[in-house]
Amino acid sequence: MTLDLYKYVASVPDFPEKGVIFRDILPLMANGAAFKQATDELCEYAKDKKVDMVVGPEARGFIVGCPIARELQVGFAPARKKGKLPRKAVSATYDLEYGEATLQMEADSIKPGQRVLVVDDLLATGGTISATIKMVEELGGIVVGCAFLIELKDLHGREKIKDYDMKALMEF
Ligand code: PRP
Ligand code: HPA
Repeated sequence: MTLDLYKYVASVPDFPEKGVIFRDILPLMANGAAFKQATDELCEYAKDKKVDMVVGPEARGFIVGCPIARELQVGFAPARKKGKLPRKAVSATYDLEYGEATLQMEADSIKPGQRVLVVDDLLATGGTISATIKMVEELGGIVVGCAFLIELKDLHGREKIKDYDMKALMEF
């Protein structure tokens, strides 16, 4: 049976500020069948891309990215919020929908020439995913696709990653 994944996204008005409808994916993650279906569908998208590594930004990109890496039997490299990594790292600063932030990846977490699938829960303005792609490419990785549970169409994040193949399971 195929589930309607939209039923597992809670829409919360006026969070984190008035006028914003926050799309909360925690109910999807809390349901074993829905979470499995969602990550399976993103694996299906990735299966012919010869992915060597999955990269996901902190924090929800870890939750979606790790089961995909495991299913594809490849490694996972996190893009962490600044100041968490103990070894040599690369950084990228970006504008968030609500502020500014810096992400970092360990300098040896992607090897030159590796084919990378970038995964996050949600594409909003595209700042997070663009910063993540920038670091992967700085390390010599080849971004072969970007996979999301949700795309927020009104924020036009897709335009920031128009040079890359992408898949989002749901649109709002
Ligand atoms: C959210 C979401 C994406 C990003 C999307 O993460 O999980 O990573 O924002 O927004 P953008 O396309 O405008 O960059 P957030 O930075 O809130 O971090 P979290 O996962 O730690 O909550
Ligand atoms: N939901 C979850 N995360 C987000 C959102 C949202 O609507 N916008 C930016 N990050």
